[in-house]
Formats: sequence, structure tokens, C-alpha cells
Amino acid sequence: MRYDPINPKCPHMLHGGDYNPDQWLHMPEIISEDFRLMKLAGCNAMSVGIFAWSALEPEEGNYNFIWLDDIMDRLAEQNAFAVLATPSGARPAWMAQKYPEVLRYGTNRVRNLFGTRHNHCYTSPIYRQKVGDMNRRLAERYKNHPALLLWHLSNEYGGECYCPLCEDKFRNWLKNKYNNDLNELNIAWNASFWSHSYSDWSQIEAPAPHGEMIVHGMNLDWKRFVSDRHVNFMCHEIDAIREFSDAPVTTNMMGFYTGIDYYKMAEHIDVVSWDSYPSWHHKEDDISTASYSAFVHNLNRSMKGGKPFMLMESTPSATNWQDYAKLKRPGMHLLSSLQAVAHGSDTVQYFQWRKSRGSNEKFHGAVVDHVGNEHNRVFRDVAKVGSTLAKLDDIVGTTVPSEVAILVDWENMWAINDAKGPRNDGHTKYLETCHQHISPLWKSGVPFDVVDSDSPIDKYKLLIMPMLYMIKPGVAEKLETFVENGGTIITTYMTGWVNETDLCHLGGFPGPLRKLCGIWSEEIDCLTPGETNPVAFLEGNHLSIAGVFDAHTFCEIIHPETAKVLACYTSDFYSGTPAMTVNKFGNGKVYYLATRFNDDLLDLIYEYIIPKLKIRRSINGILPTGVTANYRTDGNKEYIFVMNFTDRSQSVALSDNTIYNDMFTRSKVRDNVDLNAFGLRILVKDCS
Ligand code: GLA
Ligand code: ZN
Repeated sequence: MRYDPINPKCPHMLHGGDYNPDQWLHMPEIISEDFRLMKLAGCNAMSVGIFAWSALEPEEGNYNFIWLDDIMDRLAEQNAFAVLATPSGARPAWMAQKYPEVLRYGTNRVRNLFGTRHNHCYTSPIYRQKVGDMNRRLAERYKNHPALLLWHLSNEYGGECYCPLCEDKFRNWLKNKYNNDLNELNIAWNASFWSHSYSDWSQIEAPAPHGEMIVHGMNLDWKRFVSDRHVNFMCHEIDAIREFSDAPVTTNMMGFYTGIDYYKMAEHIDVVSWDSYPSWHHKEDDISTASYSAFVHNLNRSMKGGKPFMLMESTPSATNWQDYAKLKRPGMHLLSSLQAVAHGSDTVQYFQWRKSRGSNEKFHGAVVDHVGNEHNRVFRDVAKVGSTLAKLDDIVGTTVPSEVAILVDWENMWAINDAKGPRNDGHTKYLETCHQHISPLWKSGVPFDVVDSDSPIDKYKLLIMPMLYMIKPGVAEKLETFVENGGTIITTYMTGWVNETDLCHLGGFPGPLRKLCGIWSEEIDCLTPGETNPVAFLEGNHLSIAGVFDAHTFCEIIHPETAKVLACYTSDFYSGTPAMTVNKFGNGKVYYLATRFNDDLLDLIYEYIIPKLKIRRSINGILPTGVTANYRTDGNKEYIFVMNFTDRSQSVALSDNTIYNDMFTRSKVRDNVDLNAFGLRILVKDCS
């Protein structure tokens, strides 16, 4: 199966980036040069107008679209397209001065001054009116423009507003959620703790360091409310556009940014996009950076059920905000760009096209540097990506079929990150643990999806579910059906502790998953930094794992009920109790890891489970350390991206008899796939 291109107007991979000609209107020769250079770099999609409000409406009611008309026309003239932005990510000074309510309040309940960006109140009726009005004007003017490809809503929605308007909305949101029943809210939040029960809705204030912070149910609802407000504001923007234009809409997300439940946001947009800034070359090797990037790319593909996403921003060289702005080593720009494509992106776009001359981002990497020409390494790297993408038309719209999913849930993340204890040194590390569990998949080139508690899971063979602390209504039943029907789950300590309002499940952890996991978790020991408890695998365990492995950070003391013991702790007073179990449930199995293990053991566990469940790898062969593969397909052909994230040349020994075609050289490949340092190849396999 093949998805339609993002917009059928352009059935090609998109290449381009944030283009801010509004910073150069006084130097028209620069803009002309931009268009010459865009052609040279093979750019066909430029994101225009992201922060251009003061250029579009320099004074209230005094509009200037002439410059944008010119940019749109020039793009169309050279068969390029605009990812046209709504400018709500920043507003002009006149607006903040005349209508201070558009500005955001901090937790201290003090209104911000004019400045920076992303500091609007998402509730303010005036701001909503101004944004709606601007969006309608843009949509009406450009709806039929040949360059219009899609709408880029605002920019990286995020942050929180604590103004009186928002606090009022929060109270209304709560009334709605708790059926106007304050008693229901007090119980749901366990508000009687420290006598915090409310006797009137007006007493409720949003969480603040100098006010309420200890009612976790309230913190959680505030996060839900803020997330909903962003989505609601975005929908307001979409509604205004939709009065005139049917072009697809997107908004650029930020990976696992904690402020917004992106699964909820994704429901309202046509295509998912995200801004990716991995810190390449910061560590001894790039492996964990690469596997984390793959993880987030997969999230972006999964949020719309496998539909190709957009790499909306990436830097062609270095950022100006990471602690150490390392330049990408030769090969890395093409590799990291095509890594996004390997995982389902139909675009490679940058922040930004031309380096600003002044202000905050004047030293942020860009395609066109201050030198202003094409004769430099970064420009050549970008042009190489352009010419490569131009050969990938066949891959547009293809997807990545996955038999494995990892469950990463935003509400779970909010709750677990807010928990006081059992560990308070920042090492609870929910997301990092999820990353640790997908690393063995990445190493063996197994495609995987990322799902949340609400996603359908029946198509998967394996569901990885680390630290699912919050079990919401209906989830246990869904997981039971999944396993009964033959699915396998890998889960861990800190699972099934609280319900959807952060109240602990009574009757023994893992709460509603106790039957499914076949264990009762009685206590959890918190190990001090560096402390370990050696875990020994039982002889004859069905994973065929032998030896002793370190457990650290958390050790749950569990009692098998229907589960079988695979491994036990060997020290301390709970020596001899299980550290890992497996429970047969219907036709499937649930593995319970009662403690945190190192990568070496996780590798062994997944090395057993992947072939056992006959889970498809992207390519059959021995992948050397740092080399991985991921594939996309339309059902007729498979496009296998083999990627080397090391600074040495590598070779993959193939272990099947398939003959592949190299997508670029057209040469036949069998036995070995040779890769340059930071190199990649795309192999094509005919499935018909
Ligand atoms: C974000 C923003 C861009 C730019 C880049 C810099 O992703 O969306 O406007 O500031 O960061 O890396
Ligand atoms: Zn507000």
C-alpha cells in the first residue's frame, strides 16, 4: 500500500527549509540570489512566513502582502512550493502594546513583557481574533496560488500561560471533567491530603511553586488542560484557514516534548512534522544518538498510523544552542537526512535557508552562510541531499510495516515524572528506559511503531511496555485480549501503580495488570548510585540465558502467582526472589522485568524473542556495531536503507539468498553490503 504524496501537486520528496525573506526585504539582491541558490541546492519546498507578522501587518489594519506575493510567484516560477506559515508564533510590538492581554503570564502571575516568541496567551479572545483574521487573509489570498503546498501552523506550539483568563478556563475544564461535582474532584485528587479539599470552584488555582504543587492529580489535570488548550488554539487556526483553503495542514512538533500530548494533536492535522536536532558526534560514538533519532522518527510516523511524516527542521551544519556545536563529519549530513526518510519521512527540510545577519540565531547553521555563495562544504552537502532525494520518487508514500510496538504514553510520562519517590535523584528516567528497550531493535534492524495507551495494538506480535505506571480504564482489558490472542508483552517494574487521576491502585501492584503479569509486587528497593544486585538466570530457563547480570536503580520484590521465574536476585535480604518472570496468558506471554538491567542483558532477551516470534528484520545479515537497517515498502518493492553510524567503513554479511539492486548504482548486491564511514545505501528488493 502506498499513501498519497503530502500534496499530489508535488509527487516528489520535498527538500528545503525555513525561509525568512522578511529579514532581507531591504536587500532585494539577496532575495534574488536566494532563488538562484535554491535551484543549485535542489530545493523545492520552502517554509515561508513563520515569524513574519510584523512584515505582513506592520501596523494594526495596515497589511502588506506584496513581498509575500513576490516570493510565492518566484517559487512557482521555478516549480518550487511554499509550506506557508501562519505567523502566530510571534506577534508584532504594536499588538502587545495595544492589547497586553495577548501576552503570557508566568507561574508567578506576572505578565511577560513584549519579547522573544511563543509567549502568547492561547486563551485571549483578542489574540484568537487577530490570529483568525490573519489566517483568513492568508488563506483567501493564496488558496489558489500554484506555489501553495501546505499550511505550517504557527511554530512549535508550547509553554504555559497562567493569566486570569487561562485559570478561569482551567476551572471550567475541571467542572466539565468532574460533572460539576466538586466532591468528585476532591476524591479524584485525594485533596483531603493536608486539608487541601476545595469547597468552591473559585478556590482552585493552577499549580505554582509558591502555591499548590503537591496535589498530583491536579498537576496532571493542569498538564492535560494545557495540552488541550494548545490543541484547541491550533484548531482555531485551522478553522480560519479552512474557510478558504483545503490544502493540507501541519504543525512542527518537537519529538517527545512533554508539554503537549502529540497523539492528541496529531488527530487534527493532515500530516505530522517534527524538528530534529540530534547532537551528533557528542559522545564517543553516535549509536545512542542514532537510535534515539530513529525512535522519534518512528513516533512521528506512528502517530498517523504509518503515514509518511515530514522532517520539518534539521540543521545543515551545527545549531547555536547546544552546549557544544559540533560540525557534522563528512557523510553525516546525508546519512542523518536519509535516516529520517528511512523511517518514513517524505521530506528533508532545514532551519534555516539563510543565516540571519543579526539577533539570536545569527550563528545558527544554515544552507547559505554569511559568505553568501555556494562554494563551501555545507552548501555542497545540502546540494548532495537535494540530488539524492530527486532520485527517490519511487519511495514517496511508501511506509514501514512494523510487527513490534513500544508503548510511550504522555499522561504516563507526566504522572511518573511528577511522582515523589521512590527515587528523587532524576534517575526514574521513563523516556530513557523506553529508549533503552528499543535499542536492541535498532541494533538488529527491526522496524517498530510507537503507540500510546489509546492506540490499537492488535496487529503487533510484540508490545514493549516499560514502566506503564498509569493504567487508564479499559487498558488492562485491551492488553489481556492482545495477549490472549497470542501477543507477547515485555513490561517492567513500576507498572500498574496509579489510575488516570494518579490515585494508587488498591489490592496490590501491578494493579489491573496483576492477573496478566501473574505476579504481585510487594515492595521496591531503591539502589544508591553504583550499587548493584547480581541477578542469576535459572538453569534451563526458556530464554537459554546463562550467567549473572547486574540489576541496578530499582529492584522490585515480587511474588509469582501464575508466572514462572526466569532469574533471581542473589544478594541482600531478598536474595532468591524473582528478578524476571514470564506468565503464559491465553496464547501469549508476558515477561516482567522486576529491576533495571544493563544493555547487555536486554540485548540477549531481545535476541531470543525476535526470532522466536518470527519478527521481520529489515535485512537478514550480521549488522556490525553501529550499522542498522530500516525498510519502506509499497507491497511490491522494498527499499532497504542500510546505514553506518560509525566513522569507519563497514560491511554487512547477508545471510539469505536475496539479490538486491542498489538504488543509486543499479548494481546487483548479494553476500556483502559495503558501507563507507557514515555511509548509507538503499537496496531495492522486488517482492512480486
Ligand atoms: C526551533 C525553531 C526554529 C529555530 C530552531 C533553531 O526548532 O522552530 O525557529 O529557532 O529551533 O534550532
Ligand atoms: Zn492566558
